[in-house]
Parts: sequence; C-alpha cells; structure tokens
Amino acid sequence: MRDFIFILLTVSATSSRSHSNWCELGCDCRGDLRFAICSRAFFTELPGRIPSNTEILDVSHNRIVVIPERSFNKNRKLRVLLLQNNNISVVQDGAFSQLEFLQKLDLSWNRIATLAKGFSMGLAFLRELQLAHNSLSSLDSSSFTHLESLQKLNLSGNSIRTIQVRSFASMSILRHLHLEGNRLTSLNNGIFSMLRSLELLNLAGNHINETEAGIFKPLTSMTLLNLANNRLTSIYFKTFLSIHTYSTHILLGGNPWNCDCDLQRVFRKLRSIQRLFLDDYYNLTCAQPAVLRNFRLIQVDTELCIAETVTVLIITVTVVITVLAAMLMGERKRKRKKRRKHWTQQGELSDESDY
Ligand SMILES: *[C@@H]1O[C@H](CO)[C@@H](O)[C@H](O)[C@H]1NC(C)=O
Ligand SMILES: *[C@@H]1O[C@H](CO)[C@@H](O)[C@H](O)[C@H]1NC(C)=O
Ligand SMILES: *[C@@H]1O[C@H](CO)[C@@H](O)[C@H](O)[C@H]1NC(C)=O
Repeated sequence: MRDFIFILLTVSATSSRSHSNWCELGCDCRGDLRFAICSRAFFTELPGRIPSNTEILDVSHNRIVVIPERSFNKNRKLRVLLLQNNNISVVQDGAFSQLEFLQKLDLSWNRIATLAKGFSMGLAFLRELQLAHNSLSSLDSSSFTHLESLQKLNLSGNSIRTIQVRSFASMSILRHLHLEGNRLTSLNNGIFSMLRSLELLNLAGNHINETEAGIFKPLTSMTLLNLANNRLTSIYFKTFLSIHTYSTHILLGGNPWNCDCDLQRVFRKLRSIQRLFLDDYYNLTCAQPAVLRNFRLIQVDTELCIAETVTVLIITVTVVITVLAAMLMGERKRKRKKRRKHWTQQGELSDESDY
C-alpha cells in the first residue's frame, strides 16, 4: 500500500514536471533552464534532453548503471553534477571530458569499483569530488590524474586497502581528504607527499596498526588528523614529531592501546610539544596488558614506568656496589703488594749492610 502511494506520488510529481521539447520527461527544468532536476524518476540511463545552458543537473536517486564516454558534450556549462544514489558501476574513459566548468561532482552511493585512467579527464577545474560509499579497493597514480584544482575529496565508506605512492600527486591544493571507514592497515611513506595544502585528514575507522615515521611530514598545513577507531597499539614519537605545522589537533581514541612504559613515555613527550593537541587523550583506553584492560591511560600512566624504574634502580645500585667493592678490593691488594715490596726492599737493604 505504502509503495503504491509512493508510486502514485512519484508519477504525479513526474507528470507535473515540464514537458517541453528541451527537457526530458521526468525532469524539471527551471530558473531560465539553468537547473535541471531529474532525481527519483526511475531513469536507468542518463536523460538525453537537458537544456544546453543547464548549470546544475541533479540525476540523483535513479537506477543509472553506466556513464558512457562524453555523456555531457551538450551540457558544457555544467557547474554541479549530482549522480549520487544510482547503480553506477561503469564510468567510461572521458565520461566527463567536456566539463571544463564543473566544480562539484557527486558520485557517492554507487557501485564504482575501479577508476579508469581517463576518469578524471577534462576535470581540471573540479573543486569537490564525492565518491563515498562505492566499492573502491585501491588507488593508484592514474586514479585522479587531472584533478589539479580539487579542494575536497570524499572517499569514505569504500573498501580501500592500498594507496599507491603517487595517487594524490596532482592535488597540491587539496584541503580536505576523507578516507574514513575504509580498510587501510598501514600507511606508507610518500602517499601524502604532494598534499602540502591539506588541512583535514580523516583516517578514522580503518584497520591501521602501523604508520611509517615520515608519513605526515609533508602535510605542513594540517590542522586536524583523525586516527580514531583504528588498530593502533603503540605509536612512534618520531611519526608525530615530524609534523611541522603551526598547530594540529590529533584524535587517537578507540584504538587498542598496549599500555606499557614505552607508550607512557611517548605520550608524555607528545604532550609536551606545544603545536600538537591530543584532543581525546583523556579518553584513551588500554586493551593490553590484560590487567589494565578498559582502564583509561590517564588513570594508570603515572604507574606504568614504576616497575621499570624500580628495576633500573636495583640494577644501578647493584652495579655501584659491585664497582665499589671491586675498587676497594683493588685498593687493598695494591696496598698489600706495596707493603710486601717495602719489606723485601728493607730485607735487601739489611742484607747489603751485612757486607
Ligand atoms: C544494479 O545493476 C546491476 C547490474 O550491474 C543489476 O543486477 C541490479 O539489479 C541493479 N540494481 C538496481 C536496484 O537497479
Ligand atoms: C562524505 O560522504 C558521506 C556519504 O555521502 C557523507 O555522509 C559525508 O557527510 C561526506 N563528508 C563530507 C565532509 O563531505
Ligand atoms: C570517548 O571514547 C568513546 C569510546 O571510544 C567514544 O564513544 C566517545 O565518543 C569518546 N569521547 C570523546 C570526548 O572523544
């Protein structure tokens, strides 16, 4: 019943939309034909008749499967193109190649598994690309070749496991990179090396358990680094020391920390760096060792190094005692030897005097 009403509503909404020759049936072209709204109209392929001066085209919530090559060659004035919530699995090379004014492209909630080499062809002025909730599993140097003007890239909710070194190489003015909710396990040096304008790097909700020491070094504009809800058990001080920014907030909550003396030391040093702000430090919880599970790091951190300190003290004291004892023994031996020498000499002397 509810479905029936929905269809009825959709049909009546559809029929009230423009029927002019210039506008596809199912679309609503208005605002001097600069907006074309074709959402929720059961399209299985891109609508053909869209006025050529359209600047905003909304084809979201349909059932489009393929974006063929040069799909928009009659709509070169597009500034915003919305294709989210379709069933797109194929974006052919050069699909967007005519869109030199396009600033925003939304392809989220589709089924895109690979980005062909020619995917970004012609998108040299694109500022925002939404690709969240697709099926991407890897990124490589050909994924985003032409996106030199991109400022915001949303790749959240894919299945990305690997990012090759030059994947983001064209994006020297990118400011926001969303990689949350993927399957990254490690971050290799070099993958962020061109992102000198990046302000926000969201890596939350991945499976990251290690980061190479120089990984964040190129990110000299970064103000927020989100590493929450990963699989970090420990961190290297150097990884964060190498962040050379004016001020950076770092989120590390929801990781299974191994609360030992090393971890305590790293965090103590990190917290003393003025330009870094560990915003959720008070919320970090231990997963190991078993006796400390679910304790907050802040509750136990003053004790983590005590056992170690005691051991060190005992060792130091033992060493000092041994050394002292050895010195004493040596000294005593030397004295005894001296005394013996003295006696022998005296003996010799008395022998001489006998002559
Ligand atoms: C999406 O496309 C696939 C083929 O690529 C098809 O099997 C599936 O039925 C489509 N789903 C919808 C909701 O149209
Ligand atoms: C990224 O995309 C997801 C899914 O569409 C959305 O919920 C989220 O708000 C987006 N984030 C940004 C910063 O655009
Ligand atoms: C603290 O951690 C819990 C569990 O990881 C999380 O749900 C909560 O939002 C965090 N609070 C803050 C202030 O970060």
